[in-house]
Amino acid sequence: MNALNRLRLGINIDHVATVRNARGGNTPDPARAAKLAQAAGADGITAHLREDRRHITDRDIEAIIDSIDIPLNFEMAATDEMQRIALRHKPHAVCIVPEKREERTTEGGLEVANDQNRIAHFIAPLREAGCRVSIFIAAERRQIEAAARIGAPVVELHTGAYCDAHAEGRLADRDAEFARLKDMATLALSLGLEVHAGHGLTYDTVKPVAALPEVMELNIGHFIIGEAIFSGLDSSIRRMRALMDEARQEASGESVA
Ligand code: PXP
Repeated sequence: MNALNRLRLGINIDHVATVRNARGGNTPDPARAAKLAQAAGADGITAHLREDRRHITDRDIEAIIDSIDIPLNFEMAATDEMQRIALRHKPHAVCIVPEKREERTTEGGLEVANDQNRIAHFIAPLREAGCRVSIFIAAERRQIEAAARIGAPVVELHTGAYCDAHAEGRLADRDAEFARLKDMATLALSLGLEVHAGHGLTYDTVKPVAALPEVMELNIGHFIIGEAIFSGLDSSIRRMRALMDEARQEASGESVA
């Protein structure tokens, strides 16, 4: 596959830490998972240091940085504490996400449109430190236009609504959500933003998103870590990678090897 067409895969390893923390102690080790993900062909490792440290911890971030040669995408809320930590580590990438204590996972996208000044000031030092800043947002015109206005180089479009509709068998909603993702990916690219996507993706839902030529990177965690229970982490990552490559090749008319 030509390099231009290759979609990057970031593996989110938060839920290795979730399993470890269910017992306390040291196993399973997220840094070991990060290394294994790298060996299985991941293009990056994504880890979310939540304010409540419910899965990834500060020590995990250090251990992951020491363990991998591929880029770290540090997911964080727009708080002073997280900004300090990011500026200390200067990861390759930071992804700004909304965070609510009571949520189980990152439920919606960041509200940028109504909070433009604050987010613009928040990302400026991260960009100056050389981090590639992405903003995790719903696939909505006003959020995308706001992201472009504040000078965010990258947006990650939230695929949760599309994946939930698929999982619940609401196929008309799924198709409408997908059409929205497609249109908004086109809009984002036309405004000069690099487009990423993620949240809730599975073997069943990844291909249409991977086929969108505007999308440069997918970040996938929960499903891959869950599948690893049955098939191993190496196998679950390789299968996801193969589906992404297939989708990309089919969409570009290249023959699938
Ligand atoms: N991208 C972002 C910004 C996220 O917050 C998450 C979940 O932490 C993901 C991708 C991965 O989502 P999932 O674990 O559902 O694959």
